[in-house]
Amino acid sequence: MPRILIIGASRGIGLELARQYRADQWEVVGTARDDAGLAKLSALGAKTLKLDATHADAPATLEKGLVKLDLDAAIFCAGVYGPRTQKIEPPEEREFDQVMRTNVLAAMRLLPVAAPAVARSKGKLAVISSRMASIGTRSAPTGWLYRASKAALNSVLKDLSLVLGPQGVTCVTFHPGWVKTDMGGAGADIDVATSAAGIRTTLAGVTSSQNGAFLNYDGTVIPW
Ligand SMILES: NC(=O)c1ccc[n+]([C@@H]2O[C@H](COP(=O)([O-])OP(=O)(O)OC[C@H]3O[C@@H](n4cnc5c(N)ncnc54)[C@H](OP(=O)(O)O)[C@@H]3O)[C@@H](O)[C@H]2O)c1
Repeated sequence: MPRILIIGASRGIGLELARQYRADQWEVVGTARDDAGLAKLSALGAKTLKLDATHADAPATLEKGLVKLDLDAAIFCAGVYGPRTQKIEPPEEREFDQVMRTNVLAAMRLLPVAAPAVARSKGKLAVISSRMASIGTRSAPTGWLYRASKAALNSVLKDLSLVLGPQGVTCVTFHPGWVKTDMGGAGADIDVATSAAGIRTTLAGVTSSQNGAFLNYDGTVIPW
């Protein structure tokens, strides 16, 4: 049975990915930071890890949870949007810290822990970024703190791909679509099922030649 780690799987896209991988007979190790999230994952038959991605003890918790487990895939999905700014409005330090710690620091701490388990399977490693990270396609500064954090997350993924690619791991960063979740809102373009299905199909199909790519959920390339 193939095995996947999903970091940030208590709701939204992460939970739907867990649901679909379970339905497809994968073993899922899903993380959540509260009991309600853990219960949703357990109900799907997933193994659970209680972990707040921003806590200093999170890497040790993950390492313990992954002992002797090889991973065919790992997806870093945890994320926060932060202030919904329209213009160039300086963030408060508290807001900056929460967004950068969740979207960037947590990935920099947790993905190196998961990487050896993925490398043992020559598997796939993905982060859920956003099209809003793209500098090449940018035409408005909406949510500029979120954009900056996801651009930094893309940089993190690229560096991981340089190290892990030669070890047989294919690393990609995804835009999941504009998705109807707590973050995306009811007016978003697509539902979680469509987003997760697209991410799963694309991830299953990526080859080593695409290592380090920035991809839409449907597999099309997004400019950096
Ligand atoms: N929805 C969209 O349109 C869209 C578009 C582009 C990119 N994305 C990205 O897709 C990913 C999933 O978003 P979503 O739409 O599913 O959002 P969501 O419904 O708001 O879910 C966010 C997830 O991140 C988790 N999370 C946040 N902070 C965390 C922390 N410190 N430690 C562990 N988990 C944490 C949440 O856990 P809790 O339940 O504990 O809060 C939750 O599982 C995010 O990275 C987001 O930036 C979403």
